[in-house]
Amino acid sequence: MDHFVIVGQNPLVGKVSISGAKNAAVAIIPATLASNGICILENLPVIEDVTNFVQVLRKMGAKCKFLDKSTLQIDTRKISAASISSDLLKDMRASYYILGALLGRMGHVEVPLPGGCNFGLRPIDQHIKGFEALGAKVSIEHGTIKVCAEKLVGANIYLDVASVGATINIMLAAVYAEGVTTIENAAKEPHIVDCANFLNMCGASIKGAGTDIIRITGTNALKGCTYTIIPDQIEAGTYMIASAITGGDVTVCNIIPKHMDSLTAKLAEMGCQIQEGGDWVRVTAAKQLAAANVKTHYYPGFPTDLQPQMTTLLARAEGTSYVTESVFPNRFQYVEQLSRMGVKIKIDGRMAVVEGPVRLTGTEVLATDLRAGASLVIAALAATGITKISNIHYIDRGYENLEQKLAALGANIKRITTEDLPVAVEA
Ligand code: EPZ
Repeated sequence: MDHFVIVGQNPLVGKVSISGAKNAAVAIIPATLASNGICILENLPVIEDVTNFVQVLRKMGAKCKFLDKSTLQIDTRKISAASISSDLLKDMRASYYILGALLGRMGHVEVPLPGGCNFGLRPIDQHIKGFEALGAKVSIEHGTIKVCAEKLVGANIYLDVASVGATINIMLAAVYAEGVTTIENAAKEPHIVDCANFLNMCGASIKGAGTDIIRITGTNALKGCTYTIIPDQIEAGTYMIASAITGGDVTVCNIIPKHMDSLTAKLAEMGCQIQEGGDWVRVTAAKQLAAANVKTHYYPGFPTDLQPQMTTLLARAEGTSYVTESVFPNRFQYVEQLSRMGVKIKIDGRMAVVEGPVRLTGTEVLATDLRAGASLVIAALAATGITKISNIHYIDRGYENLEQKLAALGANIKRITTEDLPVAVEA
């Protein structure tokens, strides 16, 4: 098992290059299954979710070859299995994109019910609503989702929730639906636009991605293409917050500054100095951070995936801050581990009340999901003393070379590996 050991209080200074977006990669890799050709994906992040998906596609008969560490060639002309029971999928929420990507080509697809992070119920009713509107039959048996459709016909679908996953999954299926499909109340995240741009490069006809109405005109075949994945707004935001909490001065490079607007505005409100260029943002920490209120929302609102990291930063701000989590019903579970480091946070349903500034102190803590793990790293960077973070496989799912990138900015961080200690057997 791997752990991070961090000695806190080093200000982070310098430049960090941001990798490709995890949530774009885990949509576009399965999206290649919709194309009957050879795709080359560039700027893929080197993370476990990507390597796991590549193993799954290989099991399905796709020929996958890494041309370099972040460039992948995928040949999906000969897909054998449309039902995948791989254990690799159980941990990955994005496994359900295989349904939308393959439904049009194969007419029948089965995948295990999605896994993913454990912060409250994560239903897929909107995905099912979209597939059924296009003429598919959906059943869930023995923990597997089965979707069949003789023919997909375009439909008007109004999402009850602006779900990122459902927007992408329905877009994937609609590419092969006869006629026009409209998705209303669609999510607008950057990775939705990225996936639509990829599909259009393969010959699809998708208009309006990035707005709340997306129109897809069906086609009967998609070719391969070469496509570069967008940079990861959440990885970038994590380093920007790490700069602010350590009294640092960090420039995040190879990003799309527009994607960071909600965070840069909040950091400026807290007293940080922000400078922006064409593909970089520089965050110079405030001497004393001011309290602020944060409300997560769908893009372009404040991203829920930066909420744990921002709540940690607010613990170091002067005054009382209020954080409202409007996207997920229960995304404050990480606070229990953070409390071991000295934060004073009260949870009331979807709101966290953060008192600050508190002195963070190092101790042993456990990552409970990907962004919860990131919040513990951020707390450890600012804490006095040593922090040992376990279960960092969660963090490895979404951050490429985290310890190397942080160390290059001046952090004192090490990855240690311990054999899984034998579990004591009751005498
Ligand atoms: C995607 O999850 C991301 N995961 C999440 O990132 C991210 O937090 C989330 O979007 C919101 O931005 C990937 O892209 C792989 P949703 P997704 O469907 O698609 C409800 C990370 O750390 N809902 O937009 O599952 C749902 O319960 C991860 O990178 C329904 O009610 O999110 C939630 O309350 C964590 N019915 C809300 O919508 C549905 O059918 C948003 O979920 C689907 C969702």
